[in-house]
Amino acid sequence: MKYIKDQENLNEKIILLRLDLNVPIKNGIITDQTRIDKILPILNFLIKKKTKILVISHVGRPKGKVNNKLSLKPICENLEKKINQKISLIKKDVFKLKKEDLFKDSKDQVIFLENIRFYEEEENNDPNFSKHLAKLADVFVNDAFSCCHRAHASISKITEFLPSYAGLQLETETNALKKVTSEIKKPITCIIGGSKISTKIGIIRNLIPKFDNMIIVGGMANNILSFKGSPIGKSIKENNCEAIIEDIFKFGKNHSCSIIYPEDVMVGKNKTDKAKIKELNEVKNNDLILDIGPKTIKKIKDIIDISKTVLWNGPAGYFENPNFANGCYEIAKKIIDKNKDNLIYSIAGGGDTIAFLNQINAINNFNFVSTAGGAFLEYLEGKQLPGIKALN
Ligand code: 3PG
Repeated sequence: MKYIKDQENLNEKIILLRLDLNVPIKNGIITDQTRIDKILPILNFLIKKKTKILVISHVGRPKGKVNNKLSLKPICENLEKKINQKISLIKKDVFKLKKEDLFKDSKDQVIFLENIRFYEEEENNDPNFSKHLAKLADVFVNDAFSCCHRAHASISKITEFLPSYAGLQLETETNALKKVTSEIKKPITCIIGGSKISTKIGIIRNLIPKFDNMIIVGGMANNILSFKGSPIGKSIKENNCEAIIEDIFKFGKNHSCSIIYPEDVMVGKNKTDKAKIKELNEVKNNDLILDIGPKTIKKIKDIIDISKTVLWNGPAGYFENPNFANGCYEIAKKIIDKNKDNLIYSIAGGGDTIAFLNQINAINNFNFVSTAGGAFLEYLEGKQLPGIKALN
């Protein structure tokens, strides 16, 4: 892999910079800025090198359609203040864009293309789309480690058409994860939550041989509860996961990895409701499971107590409503207490987990925090990520 930090003669070159600015946005307001702050070093580095920077990112999953709610505008405005420079956001159809249209104003140094997932070609890893993007620049830099598990046009295919380099954050994250995985101490516990069920459920199976305890919480756990015959009301769930769940339990047994899932839950009628503790068999048709209950929290804390390493990826509940943040809060508190006494090595990953840790001001109380969610888990699986493979 070639690193951008080692490159000379970048002066005046147009850099196509892939970032992951997939930050949580509520009513046009960014609710967690960690991913924006983490890419400031690469932007400042490229600005200092007097390059012209053409940024590509996505927000959310617009599935190839323009969706103004998922515009990069609020991110550009936030970043403008941080780098103290004007940023232009190009809304024009990328296919109609030519290199000579860009950076016409000599003051322009940072230009953003609008959400790249507005084009279905992005997720299709379309070679013509990548080729076209490549024509807009001279060099490609990937500083989006958290997107490297996606074989998408601006992450994977693009490297076939431009000299390509790893950015500063990508380098930091892969080095840290390499170190963590080679020095990991047992017993190891993995806590997986969040709502990106399809992204993570298959990964859980493959992670089992590496862990002593696999704790499944958040939206992920609803699939397990439903599989075990518990009612989940109108809670989120992914279809057709039965076979993989059956496999998860079989695999856990074969590899002496305990699979832990909620024993009780907190429900509401909607996301803004108050929380009510329920036993699993008490969940009604119009209930939404939005957090883990006290019995489950106690069980998780006991497991953390006997662990030497804890990896946490994905929230235990809908923490955006404080009534359903207790599971996350208690997990974080237990890990932090053990960390203070150096009794545990703790790693957290994923946009939502980071947002929660920021919310309780605890981001620095973990040994390592990765901006990546799915990519972090796939890296742990030992898979070669398409984005990294492409750079190699
Ligand atoms: C992430 O938030 O993990 C990355 O931005 C990838 O997002 P995705 O899961 O929608 O591909």
